[in-house]
Amino acid sequence: MSNSKPYDVLIIGSGGAGLTLALKLADYANIAVLSKFELTEGSTFYAQGGISAVLDKEDSIESHIEDTLNAGAGLCNTDIVRLTVSYGKKSIDWLRSQGVEFTEEQTASGEKHLHLNREGGHSHRRIVHATDATGKAVSLSLINRAKEHPSINLLENHNVIDLITANKLGQSGCEVVGAYVLDTENHVVKAMSAKIVVLATGGASKVYLYSTNPHIATGDGIALAWRAGCRISNMEFMQFHPTCLYHPNARSFLISEAVRGEGAKLRLPDGRSFMQRYDAREELAPRDIVARAIDNEMKTHGVDCVYLDISHKPAEFVREHFPTIYQQCLTFGIDITSQPIPVVPAAHYTCGGVLVDSYARTDIPRLYAIGEVACTGLHGANRMASNSLLECLVFAERAAQDILKNLPTLPDTKINIPEWDESQVIDSDEEVVVSHNWDELRRFMWDYVGIVRTNKRLSRAMRRLELLKEEISEYYGNFRVTSDLLELRNLVIVAELIVRCAQQRKESRGLHYTQDYPELDNSQPAQNTILTPEKFKPAYALKFDEFEL
Ligand code: FAD
Ligand code: SIN
Repeated sequence: MSNSKPYDVLIIGSGGAGLTLALKLADYANIAVLSKFELTEGSTFYAQGGISAVLDKEDSIESHIEDTLNAGAGLCNTDIVRLTVSYGKKSIDWLRSQGVEFTEEQTASGEKHLHLNREGGHSHRRIVHATDATGKAVSLSLINRAKEHPSINLLENHNVIDLITANKLGQSGCEVVGAYVLDTENHVVKAMSAKIVVLATGGASKVYLYSTNPHIATGDGIALAWRAGCRISNMEFMQFHPTCLYHPNARSFLISEAVRGEGAKLRLPDGRSFMQRYDAREELAPRDIVARAIDNEMKTHGVDCVYLDISHKPAEFVREHFPTIYQQCLTFGIDITSQPIPVVPAAHYTCGGVLVDSYARTDIPRLYAIGEVACTGLHGANRMASNSLLECLVFAERAAQDILKNLPTLPDTKINIPEWDESQVIDSDEEVVVSHNWDELRRFMWDYVGIVRTNKRLSRAMRRLELLKEEISEYYGNFRVTSDLLELRNLVIVAELIVRCAQQRKESRGLHYTQDYPELDNSQPAQNTILTPEKFKPAYALKFDEFEL
């Protein structure tokens, strides 16, 4: 156990959101950036398609707004959509200034400009990308920049256990003052204090058995915020990406929507296409529609997967545009230039999360949430492709603006955080309980709370969650913490929040589809689902601000 020196800003997460914020604050503050494993291990690194931004002469901000609102199925916050979309070009320019090299093309007159992809829901080509490995390019550039900055302390293998608020330590006020963190390399729990804490912990798609996400996506930030007293919103809208590679040896490998953007067709095993029966936009309909269509076709025909076929395009074009996907599929014996790719939907993105305002402020003073962990109002009931990395960049910028305004007025923290108490716990002799519960949780979430839901399945899931919660809480109380146990403790909370939100919504909208209420409820204005924790303090709660673009 050790207590670290206080930081100005403690950023939990080294993905696109966390590192962007760190770089924007670095000249003015002493910062720690925590990462559960290696710095690269987050969804950002694995992003393929790209980042949406209005750059084409034929395109417009109004069109990007309209497409986002359409995909969001009536639940986006229009002001937040306008705010985010308006930052598109500025965000791309900033990334380029940090060294990110996006794919360019040359016009007939020899001029170079950024090549733009097209993806589902977008009515124009507006996806800036680095071939099909955009996230890797972004992640590595930001990490390199952060490493160069003396005031950014990058701490790998630091897993946050819980946030610490002033009232938890018996003080007046309920602002966040730091966090307990498990240093998994040295097996010690550290108490870290800071004037400002930022959740940039990514999403929660690992709550499902099949997911496109890396291992870290266990919804930790959502669970941390919930336990500390923040409201959580719209967790029923878990996004399933339509096309994850289906192969016994492939784990979580995505086949980018950009492949459909370049004309790939979805086919049944006998070669027939089917998307024309579901939506006039066919393969380029928003994700909720395409994923549901695939799920329906798989169930109707009793098949394990469908196929995505780009083999009608010239082989050179396919290899040049999708080098990572081409190589990865080849390692599994699939040559995508001549063979269709077996694909299935898989959990991909958490549209809901910690409720924040336009400056990424949460219900707890001095606690911010940015990136996939947050629910800003941008995505509504269904995120449009490539709007997520844009949101990471824009809300990191907004949080930076607010933090830079407030930081000089905050006094140095005088609170002494007590040491982590391990006197009542012992090393576990039953690790199997943790791995068994991990597996059970993710399996029943897939079976009962997946793409198509019913009241009965949701109740079944809730009953199992009650049992698991009890067992995990007892285990947590008796044994020394490990990373797997911490993640399981968070996953069970996140799963419960998803089920509770899904049970509250008595309609089908966007990503939430239930056979008991298969229609959209147009009888009243669309409502967000907001869950309030026991520790919520209305006196300090977030007031939604009016803001200028
Ligand atoms: P992440 O990049 O996931 O980073 C989370 C960070 O939090 C990690 O550093 C992790 O270690 C840390 N962390 C988590 N819990 C803890 C804890 N308890 N303690 C300490 N640290 C913790 N979006 C697009 O816009 N365009 C795309 O092309 C695109 N493609 C995608 C492809 C794939 C395969 C996936 C999985 C997602 C894709 N997305 C895409 C979504 C997008 O990548 C993510 O939403 C976005 O990168 C999230 O960034 P983030 O910074 O919020 O979180
Ligand atoms: C993809 O490349 O299909 C992923 C894009 C996204 O999730 O926004």
